[in-house]
Amino acid sequence: MKMKLIITRGNVGRLAAACVRDRINKFKPSAGRPFVIALPTGGTAVEMYKNLVAFYKAGELSFKNVVSFNLDEYVNFDPAHPESYHGFMRRNLFEHVDMQPQNINIPDGNAPSADAFCAAYEAKIKELGGIELFLGGVGANGHIAFNEPGSAFDSRTRVVNLQEKTLKDNARFFGGDINAVPKQAITMGVGTILEARHILIMAAGANKARAVRAAVEGKPDTMWTISALQAHKDAILLTDEEAASLISADKAYETVLS
Ligand code: GLP
Repeated sequence: MKMKLIITRGNVGRLAAACVRDRINKFKPSAGRPFVIALPTGGTAVEMYKNLVAFYKAGELSFKNVVSFNLDEYVNFDPAHPESYHGFMRRNLFEHVDMQPQNINIPDGNAPSADAFCAAYEAKIKELGGIELFLGGVGANGHIAFNEPGSAFDSRTRVVNLQEKTLKDNARFFGGDINAVPKQAITMGVGTILEARHILIMAAGANKARAVRAAVEGKPDTMWTISALQAHKDAILLTDEEAASLISADKAYETVLS
């Protein structure tokens, strides 16, 4: 098990944002050598973006030479809808910072050929030298991006069907109406994610506890996609105490106070 688990008594989103800020600043990105980051959506991510915006406003961080690739987006869903991942990203990050519009990449769930779109998305990531930092969350069922249980560890960017559990979890963004949640998405694949040079996954709250346990204590298992990250050489799972509540107490993990 190579994945590093950090349990914080503070706020997962705040600590994750500080890690992102420090990584970008250390990299010293320029127009010719941009920082390529993979960005998530989700409730945990909202807090992280709030903190990134605060760092930007305080002059501690610039996104001018950052190129972003979002992990996923709903299929056949209006990108102008506030709950589309295009809408989420505009509202939580892009409207507030100095990202250059041409540096923003989000899967197009309405592309005339989804397959061609997915291949082009992968090609663009490669052309830019690959993902420097993959930032993600985890679903209660252990999904990373929208790689639902059963996703192959060598899967690539593709269209997937969302599982009942995910539709239920995401109904909270659609007034609790499960039928309003789009049933398909384009997602980066597990194989795509594993090629990132650094990975930081955020998990907050008790409903992530089983996924966190499977991630660090289980064997690699395609039914818990997050466990694929055990094969990565620089993956960090950042959790709060609730999300880490099922981890065996006798194992020594790093705890950060913040
Ligand atoms: C969605 C996203 C995932 C994300 C998950 C966690 O399902 N597709 O990439 O990890 O939400 O969301 P939350 O932080 O709201 O629990």
